[in-house]
Amino acid sequence: MRIIGTGSAHPKRTLTNDELSKMMDTNDAWIRERTGICTRQVITDEHLEDLAAEAAQQALDDAGIEGKQIDYIICSNVVNEYVTPSLASIVEGKIEALCPCVDLNAACTGFIYAIDFAEALLQTDRATNILVMAAEEPTRMVNWDDRSTCVLFGDGAGAMVVTKGDDLKAIKVSSKSNLDVLHYKRLLEPSPFITKEEEHKPLYMAGQEVFKTAVTSSLRDLLSVLDEAGLNKEDISYYILHQANFRINDFIRNRFGVDTEKFPINVNKYGNSSSASVPMLLDELNRTGRLKKGDMLAFSAFGAGFTSGACIVEWNK
Ligand code: ACO
Repeated sequence: MRIIGTGSAHPKRTLTNDELSKMMDTNDAWIRERTGICTRQVITDEHLEDLAAEAAQQALDDAGIEGKQIDYIICSNVVNEYVTPSLASIVEGKIEALCPCVDLNAACTGFIYAIDFAEALLQTDRATNILVMAAEEPTRMVNWDDRSTCVLFGDGAGAMVVTKGDDLKAIKVSSKSNLDVLHYKRLLEPSPFITKEEEHKPLYMAGQEVFKTAVTSSLRDLLSVLDEAGLNKEDISYYILHQANFRINDFIRNRFGVDTEKFPINVNKYGNSSSASVPMLLDELNRTGRLKKGDMLAFSAFGAGFTSGACIVEWNK
C-alpha cells in the first residue's frame, strides 16, 4: 500500500478537566498527572457518521480523488447510533462512492486491523483505492458516574486513502481473549424467548491491568515489526501510538531511548478516542507539514479483546 491522503474530524464541544471536576470528585491535577489529558472533544448534537464522512472527504481531497474512485471502504468502529447498516455503508453514500463496504471491530486496535485487511485486498488485486478509516464515540460507552473511566475518553474520526504501493514494510496483529480487564455490555431488544439474566454494563476497565498489558504488547509488537522490516529504533521518524495515556507512550519511548519529537502526542487535546486516535494523529502530522517523503512511520495500538497490533509504513505522499 501507499498512503495518498489523510483526514480527521472532531466534535465541536471541548470538555475540560475543570468542568469534569464540577461534575464529579476529580481534579485537573489527578487527570493530567495520571494520563496527560487536559481536554477532550465530546459529541453533543453531532452524529458520528457525519464526522466519519467529514474525515473521509478530507482524506479524498488530500489524495486528489473523488468518492467514486474508491473501490473499498473499511471502517473501524466499536459503537455508533446504527447497529446496521455499517458506518462504512453510511459514509459511502455521503461521499458518493459505490463499492463494497464493511465495518470491523477490534476495539482500539481496529485501525491497524483495517490496514492489514486493506493490504490483503491490494495484494490480491481486489482493489486499487481503499478508504481506511476509524470513527468512535467512546463517551457513549462509559458510565458518567464512574470517574475512573469517563475522564479518559473523547470522540472523533480519522481516515486515510491508500492505493497500490510498496510502503507497508511490516505488520503484526494479535488477540488474546480476556473479558475480565476491559468490556462493555449492552442490552439487546427484549425477546419473549429469553430465559437468561441479562444486564447493561457500561465500559469497565481494570486500569492498572490494562496499563501493564498495553505497555507489554505495544513494546513486543513494535520490536517485532522493526525486526521484520530490518530497521532499528532510530530509523523510525515518528512512532504514532494509540493515544490512551501519555504515560504508556512515554514509558515505551524511554525503553526505546529515542527523542520526544519522535513520539508525537495529542492525547492532551483529545483524550482516548479509541481506534480513531492513530489516524487522527497521522492527519495532524500530515496537515502541520511534519511528514517528509521517505519518513518511516511506526503505528501501534492496543485495546479490548485484548487486541494489539503494530505496523511500519514509509511515507511517500
Ligand atoms: N480523579 C481522582 N481520583 C481518581 C480518579 C479520578 N478521575 N479515578 C480514580 N481515582 C482514584 C482511585 O479511586 C484510587 O483511589 P484510592 O487509592 O483511594 O483507591 C486512586 O485514584 C488511584 O487509582 P488507580 O486506578 O490505581 O490509578 P492509576 O494510577 O492506575 O491510573 C488510569 C488510572 C489512568 C486509568 C491508569 O490505570 C491507566 O491509564 N490505565 C490504562 C488505561 C488504558 O490505557 N486504556 C486504554 C486501552 S483500552 C481503550 O483504549 C478502550
